[in-house]
Amino acid sequence: MKFNVVTIFPEIVHAYVGMSILKRAVEKNLITVDIHNLRDYAEDKHKMVDDYPYGGGSGMVMKPEPFFRIAESIWPQKNKRKIIALSPKGRLFTQELASEISRESRDIVLLCGRYEAIDERVMQHLADDEISIGDYILTGGELPALVIIDAVSRLLTGVLGDSHSAKEESFSWGLLDYPHYTRPDEYDGMAVPRVLLSGNHNEITLWRKKQALKITQKRRPDLLRKYSLTQDEQRLLNDIKEEL
Ligand SMILES: C[S@@+](CC[C@H](N)C(=O)[O-])C[C@H]1O[C@@H](n2cnc3c(N)ncnc32)[C@H](O)[C@@H]1O
Repeated sequence: MKFNVVTIFPEIVHAYVGMSILKRAVEKNLITVDIHNLRDYAEDKHKMVDDYPYGGGSGMVMKPEPFFRIAESIWPQKNKRKIIALSPKGRLFTQELASEISRESRDIVLLCGRYEAIDERVMQHLADDEISIGDYILTGGELPALVIIDAVSRLLTGVLGDSHSAKEESFSWGLLDYPHYTRPDEYDGMAVPRVLLSGNHNEITLWRKKQALKITQKRRPDLLRKYSLTQDEQRLLNDIKEEL
């Protein structure tokens, strides 16, 4: 999968992509992340990428020309790229959307905004999609771009060592994740649930399912309403409701 990030702060993106799982994914040629400095596509000698807002008001607006110029120069064929502008006004990024992007055959181009906004003509006439990573305002689109690259990459075959690990995580199967423990089995009076030390895999699976249902019921009942319960799960949930 090929990601491209268009930013005026390439160092931020380089730093994250150059570490850990994403670094290994790049080394294994499972993903590429090309980072483009938007200033290289500014038209004037001062490499200006922002200007005052028409109509007045505070803050600067990112100029449209550098965005259109980079797209025409690097991704001239519209059917071969999907341009995503990062914006708090975009559709909400979820695990489902990460999965949708992971199946994309076109190159992914992520446009990072800064200042007050990106000129609306970029949103209307260049971007194929606008994505928000949540209902809060960040100073720039670099973190949202990295969030998308990270969440999408770990869904690609071979990126995670254990191919099952992505499938069993929160959201992937519709419930929040069950609790995890490692050694020591007792620390400062805090013990690991005995069932996990029992070696009984059926019991462990049942315990994990119950814990996942319990935490989802407590923290995200909205997820549970969308989840289709098996009869066994419904029974477990009834027990949990009684316990709660
Ligand atoms: C300070 S924000 C601009 C906020 C804008 N004035 C508004 O109220 O919607 C600057 C840039 O950061 C990025 N950004 C900030 N918060 C974001 C979010 N929650 N999701 C995606 N991108 C975000 C966008 O690229 C945006 O253009």
